[in-house]
Amino acid sequence: TYVVTENCIRCKYTDCVDVCPVDCFYEGPNFLVIHPDECIDCGLCEPECPAEAILSEDDLRDEQQPYVALNAELAELWPNINERKAPLADAEEWNGVADKLKYLER
Ligand code: SF4
Ligand code: F3S
Repeated sequence: TYVVTENCIRCKYTDCVDVCPVDCFYEGPNFLVIHPDECIDCGLCEPECPAEAILSEDDLRDEQQPYVALNAELAELWPNINERKAPLADAEEWNGVADKLKYLER
């Protein structure tokens, strides 16, 4: 399965949503997640993310491992998103900033 990781937080570009053939993205206030039971592992979303926040579960670095459980948890809580929208207003400023997990809003 594919996983949305930290650099999506406070950016939320949503380019990923447009290419997903099974519409398995779910939207929170400042982060998106992938439902692990719905993702068909097509890989189409990975190159679309301007923040390079999407990775195959197999390619996660050690510190990114918690995002597997986080995607699974939040995908059950948040509504589905199947159309691209404008990124968050200051997405460019937050793209690449370290330690954004503390800003995650639920
Ligand atoms: Fe959707 Fe494919 Fe990305 Fe999975 S890998 S979230 S199915 S676009
Ligand atoms: Fe997030 Fe990248 Fe999609 S920033 S909303 S995972 S395009």
